[in-house]
Amino acid sequence: MIEDLWYKNTVVYSLDLETFLDANGDGVGDFEGLIRRLDYLQYLGVGAIWLAPFQATPNRDNGYDIRDYYSVDPRHGSGGDFVEFMHQAEKRGIRVLIDLVVNHTSDEHPWFQEARSGKDSRLRDWYVWSKERPEDWDKGMVFPGQQDRTWTFDRKAQEYYFHRFYNFQPDLNIDNPEVRKEIRRIAGYWLQLGVQGFRVDAVPFLIESVSPGKKQHVKRFDYLAELREFLQWRSGSAILLGEANVLPDENREYFGGDGGDGIHMMFNFFVNQHLFLALATGEVGPLIDAIRATAKIPRTSQWANFLRNHDELDLGRLDDEQRSRVFERFGPDPNMQLFGRGIRRRLAPMLGDRRHEQLAHSVMFSLPGTPVLRYGDELGMGDDLELEGRDAVRTPMQWANERNGGFSTAERTVHPVIDEGVWGYRHVNVEAQRRDPGSLLNWTARMIRLRLECPEIGWGRCEILDTGSPNVLAIRYDWRGTSVLTVHNFDRAPHEVAIDSGVPGSERLSNLLVEEEVPADGDGTYKIALDALDFRWFRIGGLDYAVRREYDSE
Ligand code: NOJ
Repeated sequence: MIEDLWYKNTVVYSLDLETFLDANGDGVGDFEGLIRRLDYLQYLGVGAIWLAPFQATPNRDNGYDIRDYYSVDPRHGSGGDFVEFMHQAEKRGIRVLIDLVVNHTSDEHPWFQEARSGKDSRLRDWYVWSKERPEDWDKGMVFPGQQDRTWTFDRKAQEYYFHRFYNFQPDLNIDNPEVRKEIRRIAGYWLQLGVQGFRVDAVPFLIESVSPGKKQHVKRFDYLAELREFLQWRSGSAILLGEANVLPDENREYFGGDGGDGIHMMFNFFVNQHLFLALATGEVGPLIDAIRATAKIPRTSQWANFLRNHDELDLGRLDDEQRSRVFERFGPDPNMQLFGRGIRRRLAPMLGDRRHEQLAHSVMFSLPGTPVLRYGDELGMGDDLELEGRDAVRTPMQWANERNGGFSTAERTVHPVIDEGVWGYRHVNVEAQRRDPGSLLNWTARMIRLRLECPEIGWGRCEILDTGSPNVLAIRYDWRGTSVLTVHNFDRAPHEVAIDSGVPGSERLSNLLVEEEVPADGDGTYKIALDALDFRWFRIGGLDYAVRREYDSE
């Protein structure tokens, strides 16, 4: 049954323990703090949490440099705290996904230390080495400006080692069966502790088989099927959620071809970038093309849609003109831009007003796939451009108008709390917004519920409808004889559109958010008047979706 695929009809909330809630007052967020906020997440209606890496780490890349995969970094608590957290999350019906960062380790990991100790080291082949400096030693950097090479000479090892990311993150050698076995151990360990899956870091680089001197590195897609098979044997409902910012025609292979035996869910970076283009320009054409280009995926596969994450807003898949339009609108100051391809800002300051933020969220909830919300975006939290690089968007959660925004009682916090100006915790915090029925927080909670009440989006078929307007996006979803229609106006001017719902014999649209019924015209079309940046969610035919037109065996 398609309904068994829980990941198709849920809302994921992404957070970093470090900046969520500090319960022991040392300035760093911890499991104890997160446990205290599970009721908040339950109130919001999220079905799953994606936790950023929390294992022992020198923390030179926000925890994406792991020193021990089988641990909890003491700054966040103990293994006991983790298990208590899992228990409390499960009690509330909230699933937990964690990061699986196995493209590379930290250079402080004992495996790397052992591997570099000598050519005969037992673990030498766990990493990727070259005797000579490869020709492409200064090519293929992911962080231009912060990284100047991908091969670095290690004095102790007397060879060059490969690192796709920073030089303190040596790449593991995925071709080595022992490495694969160890990755299964890591996944198996956390599955046994109850996690429901993994956000797989840097998938395109994880599966590349790197040999020095070769221009094109082979991609081992078979490895994704191998990993999925292992996962499913251990836990039938566990999933892989892949981070792969790739072009539409490459997606198929990540999902595992027609059989869909690869990654279950992938972040839709392509649609994300075109969505920001649409938000910047008010025009939906390229977004529609992006949705269509990524529409055909296997039955058990799913897209994960998002607005912002913990990295820069990567615009690398837009053409130069499109990218400069987004830069111009959302990141005009060079200090807002990063790596020549992205913007290091949070959603709210980029969009600048509540209507635009709601439109963006509403679109994200209505796209084909599963929404992934970034902590703080439900409040409209801001960024701190005085911080280095991507840290600008990693400031602590703003809970209340209290010292450090209620995040911590410490003198110094892991990242500074935003305490000044319109984005400061005095103005933007959970406590104030919970009390205000009209707040963005309460609006978001309502939208999450609405999304969950529309299984058509999670499990059904999607069709983009003609609106006759370059500014209005209309999508219809059908599942088991019921249909949902969402309509979004990206323009700052009102528009009236006439839409043929495509559902034969339908007579009215029922608004799912406010009291409104739109009758069909004589010719079966619907006239919908939208204000600037306005949107609507309808069920076609009536609110009562228990009355189904026709049972469809999907
Ligand atoms: C992708 C993560 O999202 C990013 O934060 C990290 O720096 C790189 N992978 C390297 O692990």
